[in-house]
Amino acid sequence: MPIVKVADDAGDMMSLLEVNGRYFPILRTPHDQEEELRNMTSWKARSDDVLICAYPKSGTHWVWEIVKMILDQKAVRIPSMKESAMLECGSGFALQNMLSPRVLNTHMLFSDIPKDFVDKRCKMIYVLRNPKDVAVSFYNHHVRLLDYEYSGSWRSYLGRFLYGKVDYGSWFDYVLHWEKSMKTSPDLPFHTLTYESLHQSPEHEIRNLAEFLAVSCSSDLSHDISAQCSFLVMKEEKDPLEDITEWKDGEPGMYRKGCVGDWRNWFTVAQNELFTAVYEQKMAESTITPVYTLNNEQS
Ligand code: A3P
Repeated sequence: MPIVKVADDAGDMMSLLEVNGRYFPILRTPHDQEEELRNMTSWKARSDDVLICAYPKSGTHWVWEIVKMILDQKAVRIPSMKESAMLECGSGFALQNMLSPRVLNTHMLFSDIPKDFVDKRCKMIYVLRNPKDVAVSFYNHHVRLLDYEYSGSWRSYLGRFLYGKVDYGSWFDYVLHWEKSMKTSPDLPFHTLTYESLHQSPEHEIRNLAEFLAVSCSSDLSHDISAQCSFLVMKEEKDPLEDITEWKDGEPGMYRKGCVGDWRNWFTVAQNELFTAVYEQKMAESTITPVYTLNNEQS
């Protein structure tokens, strides 16, 4: 496999997989990850597939669990991991064996997802999270998942994040790419959701998702799904599914803090200024307005 050690300015290395000029995480899959990634564009979709698309650490696990419960029409814990339905973790063959309706997820760019999803007009849910919290969450992900072989400091990590020396590349490029893709294909069924709005008004956002998915959702059901998918309940019930051999000190870290505004505990004033300068330069053409703080949130 084309594994590369990607250095940052401080000389810290991160092990990644490089395929078609893009960086991916090195995954413990039973099949040939490189070959599956190369073949993915020709994978077949089903018209009732739902695809959740997000840059890493934007809340994919949370939204996947919610969407599964909405389609199941009951607030009952999903016994599998969202990775079991992640395009880049799977193989074309494994996905064929999944029962419909498939709730899939991916961190791929719109241009790299299998073409058939577009041709069959599959519903796509795009999840966006403010990039400062994404950076902090991704840093913890990188230092705690052993296969990255990464042990850099937060101080040097921010430059790595800002310039895209991570799996799936730059947050800015990813978000700009999706923004442009959704604008140029207004006829495709996209639903955009932010991590912060899901925090602020979970039941409202759950009902919006149900409406997009064209299924009913009573206030009781949205209330129960919101409770079952609250951070602490999910952490308690989903952490045991993790393979602890993948995690530093055997402690799963997928459900870490789950709040809006944790970046304030990490960013120095200088890092915040650097971030703002890069954001303004990179996102000049963008119409998105990230939400960095919620009034009622304790971080
Ligand atoms: P933090 O590291 O900031 O805690 P993804 O699923 O895309 O990998 O995103 C992971 C982030 O979503 C982590 O953020 C994780 O804690 C958070 N998350 C997962 N489940 C959540 C939930 N039920 N409620 C709120 N945040 C959740």
